[in-house]
Amino acid sequence: MSKPAIEIQGVRKAFRRREREAGAPWWRREWKVKVALHELGLRVDAGGVTDILRPNGSGKSTLIRILGTLLTPDVGTAKVFGWDVVTDALQVRRHVNRVSVEAAFFKELSPWENMVYASRLYGNNSRGTRRRVVEILEVLGMPKDVIDQPMKQLSRG
Ligand SMILES: Nc1ncnc2c1ncn2[C@@H]1O[C@H](COP(=O)(O)OP(=O)(O)O)[C@@H](O)[C@H]1O
Ligand SMILES: [Mg+2]
Repeated sequence: MSKPAIEIQGVRKAFRRREREAGAPWWRREWKVKVALHELGLRVDAGGVTDILRPNGSGKSTLIRILGTLLTPDVGTAKVFGWDVVTDALQVRRHVNRVSVEAAFFKELSPWENMVYASRLYGNNSRGTRRRVVEILEVLGMPKDVIDQPMKQLSRG
């Protein structure tokens, strides 16, 4: 079995937020615990493409934030290429990149520009980046003709 890219065991994440009960007056808002992830276990092998499809509010963004070290799990462990998102956060950051369509900046850039941005950020300044990026985007199934179009013009899927 190959080394997993992602390995998650028993991860739970809850948020505290103020909520109004149905029918309660507007000023009566109580602190409620909202569980975003219930005991998630997941293993993703390296060298492939994985999608996570679940309804809105089911915790996808919370999971990605945990894997990107922007949030910490309440319990459980999450590892990226063997690095723990809590105790080895700096190493995890060196191995992940997240492109969020919500962030205004990234969607103005094309897939190629997003990849070069990440590549430079991670200290790569070598020649042959274009060829490598085109190769990677092809493996990911991206049609060649959209590689230089701003992401906001592309289908999210
Ligand atoms: N910072 C937060 N504070 C309070 N509740 C949150 C926060 N982030 C997410 N949630 C809640 O956690 C649940 C999962 O949210 P999210 O991870 O954004 O789901 P998805 O990305 O699958 O739509 C939702 O009910 C959401 O309202
Ligand atoms: Mg989301």
